Amino acid sequence: MAQRRFPIRRAASRDTRLIAKLANMAGGDTLAFILRGIDSTAEATPTYRQMAAEPTGIYSYQNCLVAASGSRIVGMANAFPARLIEREIAGAVLTEREELLRPRTELNDPTSFLLNNIAVLRSHRRLGVGAALLAAVVNEAKQQSFPSVTLHVWADNTEAIAFYLAAGFKELGHAEIPWHPDLPHTGGSLLMTRPVGFERDESVRRRLATVSQDSADERASTSA
Ligand SMILES: CC(C)(COP(=O)(O)OP(=O)(O)OC[C@H]1O[C@@H](n2cnc3c(N)ncnc32)[C@H](O)[C@@H]1OP(=O)(O)O)[C@@H](O)C(=O)NCCC(=O)NCCS
Repeated sequence: MAQRRFPIRRAASRDTRLIAKLANMAGGDTLAFILRGIDSTAEATPTYRQMAAEPTGIYSYQNCLVAASGSRIVGMANAFPARLIEREIAGAVLTEREELLRPRTELNDPTSFLLNNIAVLRSHRRLGVGAALLAAVVNEAKQQSFPSVTLHVWADNTEAIAFYLAAGFKELGHAEIPWHPDLPHTGGSLLMTRPVGFERDESVRRRLATVSQDSADERASTSA
């Protein structure tokens, strides 16, 4: 339904301004925290915009899907094979703040498809846009034969966690992140996962549960 109202398409290079705005919403100020360790006045959005405009790299528009409302983009998901994260950080010299976040970066399932960022404009939330984007990401993971979709979420982002739980995600791991006065999060970060075949598995499980209940009822009525 939402997919019809808010069609999902692969992002194009012309979408980078809105991708950057939405990535900044989804990032929970993580990039701003890293950048301000280098320059205290740095803003994350221009950096997201630069990365989104590149034809390669994890934040590239090529790894983004967007949801449209007419000619307006109202939501974005950035997703790619999780093993790309390892390639991205291999050999990199980490800043002090990136070192602090290392337990989060290293908590990863390299066999999965990673939903790195998802956000919907505030004006368009609770209309099914996020669920439609998520379904498109799961579909992409399925097309590429990944068994699961994973994601990181700050443990204090209760709204996003409610959204993921509603979509069938479960906690797979927890990264403790030491407290820092400039990091606006407490409680660390969660790695959540959802098998790609979730809907099918769930409906089969429900059907089997109904069938076994029916047979139990039948047995009870026969023996009565
Ligand atoms: C998380 C987010 C992407 C959800 O997008 P959305 O389009 O509002 O989500 P949907 O309308 O598809 O919601 C689907 C279901 O998820 C659950 N859900 C979504 N938002 C919720 C919230 N704030 N509180 C409780 N449950 C919520 C509900 O079960 C909802 O179904 P319902 O509306 O029929 O009850 C959006 O809130 C957002 O952009 N948040 C800011 C960015 C962010 O934190 N991103 C995640 C980073 S890890």
